Amino acid sequence: MALQRFLCWRIAPLLLLMPCGFQCMSVRVLNEEPVHVIPGSSLVLQAQIEHGPLEEVSMVTWERESETGITPGKVTLATCAGKCAGTRPNGRVSLEQQGATLKIDGYSGADSGVYAVTVTDQAGAKTTAHCIVREYEAVHHVSVSINVSHSSLVCGEAWGTDPHFSWLHERVAITKAVGSVSKDGTTLFVSSSPICGHFTCMVSNKRGYSAATFTAAPCETEGKGTTVAVVCLVILLLFGGVLAFLLWRRHRYSNRGERLHEHLDDNI
Ligand SMILES: *[C@@H]1O[C@H](CO)[C@@H](O)[C@H](O)[C@H]1NC(C)=O
Repeated sequence: MALQRFLCWRIAPLLLLMPCGFQCMSVRVLNEEPVHVIPGSSLVLQAQIEHGPLEEVSMVTWERESETGITPGKVTLATCAGKCAGTRPNGRVSLEQQGATLKIDGYSGADSGVYAVTVTDQAGAKTTAHCIVREYEAVHHVSVSINVSHSSLVCGEAWGTDPHFSWLHERVAITKAVGSVSKDGTTLFVSSSPICGHFTCMVSNKRGYSAATFTAAPCETEGKGTTVAVVCLVILLLFGGVLAFLLWRRHRYSNRGERLHEHLDDNI
């Protein structure tokens, strides 16, 4: 690249106005691929055009073809010739920055495809860059399955764009006591055994969220607690009863003793 530029800047002028050719002109799309667009919003594609000092952009053309190649051919979306002074917005499609920026308002699924921006120099040499554009899909078909052998739960999602996974146990965020979540969020490694209670996987993206719950056997901790409490209560009651009985008996005997004494005293 550096060498190419060097050639452009240093050698091209020496070649006495000889056109630098397509090697010096370059175009690339700056958007990160694939570009995902939410239906109804605007698609904005930004191209970067570089050329040598002797070159001139004479035309910028934006085209689209389907990604699968099934639907027929290329569709020309916008063209910008000369200095691009009088670019007229064509309905939803408009060009800005001398044709380097393509904007399509009210995006729909039909606008998906492979976009191509072609730059033509004054000598007619063409350079093209491509960019895949797809609809930003909502989250679909969330499901949770269990991997018994590895004590893990796996969350699946069908075709949503950029899904983010999060987990809940009994509607509370996962704690270390319950388990740990894999880096991509799709797998929950359950640390407690056996797996019990309700595990919910929530999948979200910019268009919303969807959730699925895996229901294991009820957790026993609550039941155990109640049992322990009942047993404690019974033991306490028994103990109390025995104590009360012992006290009552002692009281009775001591009374009888006193009465005996009294009786003896009377007789003396
Ligand atoms: C369970 O998880 C392990 C490790 O991730 C994997 O190798 C195995 O295929 C999984 N089993 C099932 C039935 O999905």
